[in-house]
Amino acid sequence: MHIQAPILQIQVADTPLATWSGDCLVLGCFQTEDGAVLPAGAAELDSDDWRGAIADLIEEMSFKGALEATAATRVGAATKKVVLVGLGKDEELTKDNLRRATAASLRIANRIKAKTVAIAFPAGGLSNRDRLQAMTESALLVAHRDIRFKSSSNENGSRFGVETLTFLGVDADEAISQQARETAYGTMLARELVAAPANVVTPIELANTAREIADEYDLELEVLGWTDCEALGMGAYLGVAQASDLPPQFIHLTYKPAGTPKRKLAIVGKGLTFDSGGLNIKTGMASIGMMKTDMGGSAATLGAARAIAALKPDTEVHFIVAATENMISGRALHPGDILTASNNKTIEINNTDAEGRLTLADALVFAEKLEVDAIVDLATLTGAIMIALGNRISGLFTPDETLAAELKVASERAGEQIWQMPMEESYADSLKSVVADMKNTGARNGGSISAALFLKRFVEKTPWAHLDIAGTVWTDKDFSYNNQGGTGYGVRTLVEWVLA
Ligand code: BES
Ligand code: MN
Ligand code: ZN
Repeated sequence: MHIQAPILQIQVADTPLATWSGDCLVLGCFQTEDGAVLPAGAAELDSDDWRGAIADLIEEMSFKGALEATAATRVGAATKKVVLVGLGKDEELTKDNLRRATAASLRIANRIKAKTVAIAFPAGGLSNRDRLQAMTESALLVAHRDIRFKSSSNENGSRFGVETLTFLGVDADEAISQQARETAYGTMLARELVAAPANVVTPIELANTAREIADEYDLELEVLGWTDCEALGMGAYLGVAQASDLPPQFIHLTYKPAGTPKRKLAIVGKGLTFDSGGLNIKTGMASIGMMKTDMGGSAATLGAARAIAALKPDTEVHFIVAATENMISGRALHPGDILTASNNKTIEINNTDAEGRLTLADALVFAEKLEVDAIVDLATLTGAIMIALGNRISGLFTPDETLAAELKVASERAGEQIWQMPMEESYADSLKSVVADMKNTGARNGGSISAALFLKRFVEKTPWAHLDIAGTVWTDKDFSYNNQGGTGYGVRTLVEWVLA
């Protein structure tokens, strides 16, 4: 699948504010007790060249510089318009504030039809590298528009019109620019995979996407079909797949660095291209209607694969997706069925809608056989995590505190929020089965925790972490650099984790 990369060209320059000319100049302002503070040189420029238009704007709009607040006015012919954007308090400036302010200003620049834009933000306490990374990623991601399924590309002004963006007062650093760009492209791939419907993104299409990445970046790819998986004893995964008319595709994509790898890692993504619930069918459009997004974990996995393949770190990474649909037919799993996973453990199916953990069980067993140093899985696993953490924060579950710390650092750098949840062993009591080794579904209360404890039974000794991203893969409204639709959540954290 080819991403719809924005046309936006990004560059850096040390042009003084007074010399820059173009459609829209964005001035980042800190918030202080005495009001908004313009960046160095802007106040003089305003009184000398713009007849105090900015001072008037600040007054009229009561612009205080609060984070993401914006105000725009026309100033002249060389620089046509100025957009003021709030950065919040100076001492609190973070990468994420820069991402949010960059996105807010570009949304305005786009709305006022600017084609050439410059952004001048004061540095605060941030390094050049952090600023360039945050601003580049944010700009590309806010500019990303998904018009694949619209018959007319100009409908509702759906195209993003800004063509060139210059960061003033930022030093060039090609390595971090490239990292930001590739991470943004990986995120766009994940967004587009999530947003495409289940009649487009099928298990075969996920495998095709993996093949395109393998071909373009020269990675190894193995795709196992039904009989290959059967030979490996993947009864849990195949039990979920058996009612679908579409063949399951077990995807294993491998990035190997040129020399001896520093580490070997595995990333596993839940890849349910549609989750009807099976015979325990999902009722209500609100739940079943969103289930094209149930491959969000695999989207993040493939998005990260694309970025990592392009960035070539000295770490070996295995990307694994047990892709299938959860459907209904005469071949569907019956509630009560007993399946045997590839580690020979038996599972009583007390709810066919707890299917993600069945596919992940066999994928985790497969990942552990690769003798990697750590495994991270991402899955839209439970509705319960949305109740616990809402739509901006994913749940982190792991028995390994070192891996937890690594992922917290990575997510902080990436600007994707995670929150560590407890792995309370006693909650696994509700997974006890009279007839098999375990049930697939535990108690309703603490449902995300019993789901994580279920997964834990399929990893013996490798450090492992699970991210429940059910709440974060999709957004109904624009925020920061996210546009309505798939968020591509997970790609940025995974890239930071692998590159660390
Ligand atoms: N894919 C769903 C989880 C989900 C729900 C993702 C809402 C995104 C939005 C998962 O397969 C599921 O159905 N989970 C059940 C588990 C239950 C049967 C134990 C759930 O959360 O209700
Ligand atoms: Mn389900
Ligand atoms: Zn599901």
